[in-house]
Amino acid sequence: MAIFLLFLLVWAVSGDEEAFIGVNIGTDLSDMPSPTQVVALLESQNVRHVRLYDADRAMLLALANTGIQVTVSVPNELLLGIGQSNATAANWVARNIISHVPATNITAIAVGSEVLTALPNAAPVLVSALKFIHSALVASNLDSQIKVSTPHSSSIILDSFPPSQAFFNRSWDPVMVPLLKFLQSTGSYLMLNVYPYYDYMQSNGVIPLDYALFRPLPPNKEAVDANTLLHYTNVFDAIVDASYFSMSYLNITNVPIVVTESGWPSKGDSSETDATVDNANTYNSNLIKHVINNTGTPKHPGIAVSTYIYELYNEDLVPGPATEQNWGLFDANGVPVYILHLTGAGTVFANDTTNQTFCVAKEGADPKMLQAALDWACGPGKVDCSPLLQGRPCYEPDNVVSHSSYAFNAYFQRMGKSIGTCDFKGVATITTTDPSHGSCVFPGSFGKNGTITNGTSLAPSSNDTNSGYPPQYFYGSGSLTTSVIIIGICVFHMATVFL
Ligand SMILES: *[C@@H]1O[C@H](CO)[C@@H](O)[C@H](O)[C@H]1NC(C)=O
Ligand SMILES: *[C@@H]1O[C@H](CO)[C@@H](O)[C@H](O)[C@H]1NC(C)=O
Ligand SMILES: *[C@@H]1O[C@H](CO)[C@@H](O)[C@H](O)[C@H]1NC(C)=O
Ligand SMILES: *[C@@H]1O[C@H](CO)[C@@H](O)[C@H](O)[C@H]1NC(C)=O
Ligand SMILES: *[C@@H]1O[C@H](CO)[C@@H](O)[C@H](O)[C@H]1NC(C)=O
Ligand SMILES: *[C@@H]1O[C@H](CO)[C@@H](O)[C@H](O)[C@H]1NC(C)=O
Ligand SMILES: *[C@@H]1O[C@H](CO)[C@@H](O)[C@H](O)[C@H]1NC(C)=O
Ligand SMILES: *[C@@H]1O[C@H](CO)[C@@H](O)[C@H](O)[C@H]1NC(C)=O
Ligand SMILES: *[C@@H]1O[C@H](CO)[C@@H](O)[C@H](O)[C@H]1NC(C)=O
Ligand SMILES: *[C@@H]1O[C@H](CO)[C@@H](O)[C@H](O)[C@H]1NC(C)=O
Repeated sequence: MAIFLLFLLVWAVSGDEEAFIGVNIGTDLSDMPSPTQVVALLESQNVRHVRLYDADRAMLLALANTGIQVTVSVPNELLLGIGQSNATAANWVARNIISHVPATNITAIAVGSEVLTALPNAAPVLVSALKFIHSALVASNLDSQIKVSTPHSSSIILDSFPPSQAFFNRSWDPVMVPLLKFLQSTGSYLMLNVYPYYDYMQSNGVIPLDYALFRPLPPNKEAVDANTLLHYTNVFDAIVDASYFSMSYLNITNVPIVVTESGWPSKGDSSETDATVDNANTYNSNLIKHVINNTGTPKHPGIAVSTYIYELYNEDLVPGPATEQNWGLFDANGVPVYILHLTGAGTVFANDTTNQTFCVAKEGADPKMLQAALDWACGPGKVDCSPLLQGRPCYEPDNVVSHSSYAFNAYFQRMGKSIGTCDFKGVATITTTDPSHGSCVFPGSFGKNGTITNGTSLAPSSNDTNSGYPPQYFYGSGSLTTSVIIIGICVFHMATVFL
């Protein structure tokens, strides 16, 4: 009976909730987009949940009236002050929370970041800080809509495999026990940062890469918890379950988990060879599908484990190895670092990302063939090639590879990326890497403001074939006569391809 009730309680807390995907917004960029640009990117990507590392006023104002749900943070620097003074906590809440709600939909306050491992000398005041912040919310009647918690590094969990034997580092019992009781009594959740990348890196080959990346494993390679007989197909689930077991070891069984950070770096130093675009894309795409599907974990199937991806932008100013600057989904211009594979995974990041493809000149293609195809695209193909003119955004770099890529892609996008429209007699190829550069935004890409550009504009001129195109489109090799002959052949061949 007691077990049944406990089970019910878990479901009552989170069983009817839909898991969501959010993103962390770090701001250590030399070219940090303005808050308005950040919000435009979030909206174009249909991101409905964000976590900030502070309570930046301009950012909170930009997020007002967007409906985006915001977790704000008390930075570690402020923790000692807030944890030692109820009045300081109340002032912080008045200035950073009360002045923004309800226009800005603040739904949680993360008090500090990985305090036990990053700032252990503040650990003794951590629970007081949460309680003071919470009582200020109670005084303003905001405590039911704004949850208070504190993100932990998963390294506080010891012996995390098998998950059923995991426990929080006992040194922290004096903090974890009152903390969990606070989370339980206020209906809040455990905030946990989960980085299978680091577990994989530190495992010296014990953890297979596929297991960290949510790739299917042969059944004999699946990790089985001998105590529970639960099968683990990925590291993420194993860590989340290790946290559930660690909590139940302290007799807390009804506090849900929200993963406040998870991700994979797309680039690293020479010693960080698994920080690649492919691995980052695989990890984040699989993570998003796993979370949105409300899969839950082996211990709690179907229980939401909402997760914030680390992170929105690559932060070039973060010190440390190259991975530290390459956790982002986007660069400072709002151009995706890679295109997530999210078909069928709901609407978050839906616009780019599902099928964002571009058509570019094939590497090593014959420049004469490229020139001919470029002329065809800007002529009979009716692509608006005016951005390629001198002084316009896509003139530089002034070479046939770059210009033909622009024209091929514009044609491909306008034709709805239909089969056969990225061929150009074999000199074109499809890529998922956005070829936009500087102020030259390729059709089908996401610009600086996160708005998708159209591939639909037609050449301004009449339907005349290859007339009126200025000599800027021609490049050194081959005489004009040869080019014209090739154009003629090309037009013929292309017409047969496209008809
Ligand atoms: C993104 O997709 C949604 C839903 O399909 C659509 O309403 C919205 O206009 C799209 N935004 C952009 C910038 O394409
Ligand atoms: C804020 O988010 C909550 C979900 O936690 C939602 O119920 C509420 O309608 C949102 N409020 C606004 C003003 O968008
Ligand atoms: C702290 O301040 C709140 C108001 O912000 C008040 O309701 C509460 O009683 C105070 N708690 C203590 C321990 O002083
Ligand atoms: C547990 O935490 C203490 C205090 O931070 C630390 O000194 C110790 O190394 C940790 N134990 C393990 C096994 O990580
Ligand atoms: C958890 O409950 C068990 C059984 O009631 C008890 O023996 C144990 O001391 C409790 N542990 C903690 C940390 O409260
Ligand atoms: C989605 O959830 C179902 C069960 O609810 C599960 O069988 C399936 O494997 C999950 N898919 C992913 C991608 O996690
Ligand atoms: C993405 O591509 C798949 C297969 O090519 C297609 O079924 C799906 O409709 C596309 N999704 C979007 C949003 O275009
Ligand atoms: C996009 O941002 C640029 C500045 O980066 C600005 O000049 C332009 O007006 C913005 N466009 C839209 C549609 O917001
Ligand atoms: C895209 O094209 C449509 C129809 O041609 C037009 O109405 C719309 O304004 C264009 N959007 C942009 C961002 O150029
Ligand atoms: C160009 O061709 C289209 C059909 O391909 C036709 O509808 C249009 O009227 C033509 N325009 C001119 C200026 O001839």
